[in-house]
Order: sequence, then C-alpha cells, then structure tokens
Amino acid sequence: MLSNAIQQPPRVLLFSLAAAVSLLLATAFLLSLGSPTPVEKLPAANHPPPPVSTPIIRPATDRDTRIKEWPAAPPRVACPGPGHANDGHLHETILDGLPYPRPLFGSYTTLNLSQTWLTASSRYGPYGFRSPWNSTTDWTALQNACLALNAHRLANSTALSPGQPRFRLRGADETLPPPKADDSPTPAGTASRTAIVFRAWEGYVYTPEDLANLRATTAETGLRMGGEYSVFLLVDVKNSSRGVFTSPAAYQRALEELVPAEFRGMAVLFDETLLKSWYGRVGTHDATYQIMQPLQLFGAFYPEFGHVWQLELDLRFTGHAGRYLGALEEWGRRQPRKQAAERSTWFYMEGVHGEYGELVGAVNDSVAGGGGIGWGGVKVPEISSPIGPTPPVADPREDNFEWGVGDEADFIALVPCASMPHLRDWAWRNWQRGFRARPPGWMCQPAMGRASRALLGAVHHAQAERGLAMHSEATLSSFALWHGLKLVAPPQPIFQDPRWDPAAMNEVYNGAGKVAEHKTKGMVGMANGEVMYHMSPWDEVTQAASFWWGSAFPGRIYDAWLDRAGNGTAEVPYLLWKSPDGEVYAPNMMLHPIKTNKNMPLAGDGLVWVAIGSGVVGLVLGLGGVGYWWWRRRTRRGSGSGGSYALLKRDDSD
Ligand SMILES: *[C@@H]1O[C@H](CO)[C@@H](O)[C@H](O)[C@H]1NC(C)=O
Ligand SMILES: *[C@@H]1O[C@H](CO)[C@@H](O)[C@H](O)[C@H]1NC(C)=O
Ligand SMILES: *[C@@H]1O[C@H](CO)[C@@H](O)[C@H](O)[C@H]1NC(C)=O
Ligand SMILES: *[C@@H]1O[C@H](CO)[C@@H](O)[C@H](O)[C@H]1NC(C)=O
Repeated sequence: MLSNAIQQPPRVLLFSLAAAVSLLLATAFLLSLGSPTPVEKLPAANHPPPPVSTPIIRPATDRDTRIKEWPAAPPRVACPGPGHANDGHLHETILDGLPYPRPLFGSYTTLNLSQTWLTASSRYGPYGFRSPWNSTTDWTALQNACLALNAHRLANSTALSPGQPRFRLRGADETLPPPKADDSPTPAGTASRTAIVFRAWEGYVYTPEDLANLRATTAETGLRMGGEYSVFLLVDVKNSSRGVFTSPAAYQRALEELVPAEFRGMAVLFDETLLKSWYGRVGTHDATYQIMQPLQLFGAFYPEFGHVWQLELDLRFTGHAGRYLGALEEWGRRQPRKQAAERSTWFYMEGVHGEYGELVGAVNDSVAGGGGIGWGGVKVPEISSPIGPTPPVADPREDNFEWGVGDEADFIALVPCASMPHLRDWAWRNWQRGFRARPPGWMCQPAMGRASRALLGAVHHAQAERGLAMHSEATLSSFALWHGLKLVAPPQPIFQDPRWDPAAMNEVYNGAGKVAEHKTKGMVGMANGEVMYHMSPWDEVTQAASFWWGSAFPGRIYDAWLDRAGNGTAEVPYLLWKSPDGEVYAPNMMLHPIKTNKNMPLAGDGLVWVAIGSGVVGLVLGLGGVGYWWWRRRTRRGSGSGGSYALLKRDDSD
C-alpha cells in the first residue's frame, strides 16, 4: 500500500500544496479584507515646532480642579483616605507657557475638562506605586465610611456589604414584571448614586501597577465625590465547579482565593450557572457575546444605584478619575434628545467641524430639522412597549432642542456608535438571538460605558423572559434606541500618533463630504467613515489612537508616563511633556487598552479570530481532503474486501 503512495508522490504533493496555498490566500484575504493598507497615502499634518522656552511649573489652583456641587443636594462632606492626604485629592499642575495638547477628536473645552497636567508619581505615589504601602487597607470600609458621612445627601446610602452576595440563582417559576422607566427617581434634595464596576476574572494577575491604579481610581471616585460613586469588582468565576452559589462557604472561599484582600469587600462574584439560570433563553453566556449579562444582574440586584459604569481593568486615567467621569456625565445631561442618535455617530473634530454647536447645526441640516431616528424610539416588532418618555410634541420641528436637556443619559458610550445594518466587516453584525428578523442594531465599541438602571432592567427582562439578545458591544446601545432612551457619545479627547492630516482623518472616521450632506439612504445625518463601517483595511489608523480597542498608542503613552523603561531619558510621545529633571507630565486623558501584564482581554478582536478560526477550519478541511483522497486510493487499489467500502466501490465503478 505504501508503494501506491510512492508511485504517486507528485499528485499528493501537488494536492497538499494547492490546499496550503488556497488556505494561506483565504486567511490573508480575511485578515486584510479587501484593500491594501491605505495609510501610506495619507498626508502628514504640519505641526508648529515645540515652544523653545521651558514652561513654568506651578500647582493647579482650586479653580482648576474644582468639583461642582449639585444645586439640589447639600454640599459634599470630605472623606478620610487610607493615609494622610490621599483621599482622592491630586497634586495637579499647570504648565504656564506650554499650549495644552490639542486632541484629534473631542475637546477639553466642550467637555469642561480641566487642562491640568499630572505626573504618574503624583497620581500613584500615595498608593504604593514604587512606594511603601499599608497592606491592611480596606477599601470597602473606607467607601462605607464615606457613605455614612454623606448619607444625608444621597438618594439611598445603603452600604456595601462585604462577602454577602445579593446575586442568587433564579427561582424555579420566577417571572419578572415588565420593565418600566426609572421607578425610584432621586428624591428632592439628594444626589443619585452611581456604581463603577470594574470587570475582573478568575486568573487575573493583579500587578503592583494594577493595584496602584485601582486604589487611586477608588479614592478619586468612591472617596472624593461625596459618596456619589461606589467602586466594585465584578468577578467572573471561570470555574463553575467552585459552586459559589451553592453555599456561603464556597462563595467566601472563592472571594479569598480570587480577590486581593484590600478589595475583597467590594467584589461581587458571578459564574456561568448564575447567568444560565437567569438567561437560559438566550443560550449563550460567553463574555465575547454577552458581557453585559452580569451587569444586567447588577442593575437588578443593586437598585440603590441609578447608574452603573462598566469599565475594564485595562482602562487608565492620566488625570482625576472622578472629575473625568463627572465631565462625561455632565455633558450627557446637557444634550437634547433630538438627533442624539445621529450625533452619537460623529467623531467630533474641533479643527474640522468648528465648535460643537456647529456640528449640531450641520447634523440638524442633514435631517432637515427632523427628530432623527431616536425620536420616540426606533420601532422593533419585539419591543412593543418602549419604556422611554413620549416626545412632548408630535412634530420634532416644534422642539427647539429642549426636550431631554437636563435629563441623565441612559447610555453613555466612550467612542462614537455605528448603525449595524451598514457595517461591512464587523464580525458580529448579524449576531442576534430571539428576533424574528435582524433588528436595526446600534454598535458602540468597546463594551464599556454607563447605563441607567432603567436600561439595564429593560435588557434584563428581554433576555430573561424572551431570550432577546444582541452582541456585547451592541446590547446597551440597541436597547436604549429601541426603548426611546437617551443615548450619547461624549466627545472625549482622543489623540493619534502618527498625526495624519485632520482632513484625511475626518474622511476616514466620519466619511467624505460636508456633515450636512450626509444623506446616504438609511444613514441620513450619520457619520459613515470607513474605520467604523469597513474596519479592517484601516487597522493601522485606529491602532494609532489613544483610545481604541486594538490600539498600541495608549501603551506607549502610558509606558512613557510611568517611565517603565526606567532610564528616564527616552523620548516621550508628543502629547506628554518631560521636564528638564526628567518628570513626565500627561494631560487629562482616558487611555485604553493598557496591557500591564499577561492578562488576556475579556472580549477578543472579532475579525482576527474569525480569520484565524477559518484558517484552522481550512487547514482541517484541507488535511481531511488529502486524507480522504489518500484513503480512496488505498481502498481502490488495495484488497478492497471490506463490506463497509461498498459505497466507495460503487462510486469507483464509473
Ligand atoms: C495601616 O492601616 C491601618 C488600618 O487603616 C491603621 O490602623 C494603621 O495605623 C496603618 N499603619 C500605618 C503604618 O500607617
Ligand atoms: C435602598 O437600597 C436598598 C438596597 O438596594 C433597598 O433595599 C431599599 O429599598 C432602598 N431604599 C429606598 C428608600 O429606596
Ligand atoms: C434645524 O433645522 C431646521 C430646518 O432646517 C431649522 O428651521 C432650524 O432652525 C434648525 N435648528 C438649528 C438649531 O440648527
Ligand atoms: C531605555 O531603555 C529601553 C528599554 O530598556 C531601551 O530600549 C532604550 O534604548 C533606552 N533608551 C535610552 C536613551 O537609553
């Protein structure tokens, strides 16, 4: 039999070679999807030379770093930190004479973000980064002490309850009442509470830098903002056989094994059995597809929070976390509901669009003054009773951008959103569960942002009772739109390196032509740049952004800020400033992703995995084909006596 093969080596080789080549071509095609890298064609921007004289370093004033009080609630009461002075105050700096860096997207002035500078040692030094740290700190006790001091000014000051899980498995015949609009509005004279949920998982390696970051962020939000924020770790217990919902002892043991002692009390554990019990109708609980399921449960079981930020552990602030999140929220409150969905697709560029109000006006022109797709909600057959408010006037033209101003946003996205029916190569553009036909979805990458309790409740009900589900990055935004809830994408500052020409960047991020002329069928008023709608050829562009799921630039900024190379002399990215004595100053930014260690991201990059997956499938099929061919030859030429070869023999006869 071996001799048969030896007689036929060229054909076997040829076949394998052809299989391998087509496999390679298919994978390469999927990875590049279409066009060659267009980046080389992009012109670089001209930049003024850096200032010659050294700026004057002076401490920021209270006016620079002020946190606005709520007009309706009593003033915040300061809270003690874990040591002297580290109660969420930062030693920020003004660099007189150095122009504040101008981001490619977003705007410091539009968001009222302070134009202060900060060194890594001022942010992290008090929290154990390259400094001694008191290992007995208990961040839950500190947050609860802050809640107690501020109880009189909070809508609901229920304390964090260490080690006492509120999550429980769903009862046998437990049904949920239909979702409704916010059912416990903030009582007069009090402030609403917001949870900040960091997503962790079994196996996460907490590096010293991770710990310093979590401490600083918790202090700047949970301790500095008068109890309005509470920080949690939502921990994915990957090993369901731990049985964390079968006994308090198992829960406690997992807490001790999976969460650093100082954060244990603010950890909330979940596992697949929990998600299955509530969302069995959806049928999938994997973080890539359904990362919001645990957050939905958080909304349901922690109703003292009006809103919940979901943040990933590879997110970093280079300024004050509480002030940054507060600025995004405040901007969200100022937005009218009219045309909010259209505006949420635009990468606002001050240098191209003018002041933000000019972008608003141009979007309004593009939809001829109409309400936009979000006016009263986008109709989907499955959502027959939207929970959002009814528009005050039937004709949106009668609303002078007043409806919704002052209302909290139900969903705050961190990067502009895209309309799913028009996406071309986002791997999950057709992914949905439980809908009769593909619904008009809205995708906002990455799977972070702030959701209202009402929005989380609507998704919770839809999944638990009806099995209606969208992909992780489309869940909160799509349901918000279908329910007529308020969705915004604040223009947060995003930098890019290399600094390609802004006009070219406007074209690839927002689409060609004037804003008012964006009238593509089904996308009237929306930005429709290729980086969102046809992503893969533009990876090199998006990977140059300071906030983008697959970008390398945030890591370079962060490494330079922390002087990770440790030699203090290397050149720093253009938006940082290095003082003559080697201190590196960063402007206020949110950076993502920062890979501090070998922690894998929670939800992977779709296309790369699809390509690799199809490569593997192709390889298996190719090898299978070769094997099958070989086997046929063997049976044809061999003794051929086995009854089980009957079918093959019959094929052979022609
Ligand atoms: C460490 O923290 C604990 C608890 O907050 C406190 O009692 C103790 O005095 C601190 N130790 C030092 C050296 O600061
Ligand atoms: C405050 O929150 C707790 C915990 O969610 C809840 O049990 C309680 O009913 C809330 N109180 C009010 C007044 O809403
Ligand atoms: C919006 O467009 C309508 C119709 O063109 C126009 O009458 C109105 O003044 C515009 N409003 C703003 C704020 O641009
Ligand atoms: C600083 O250290 C990094 C990594 O160790 C190295 O690549 C770089 O060349 C060094 N720079 C200087 C100026 O010494």
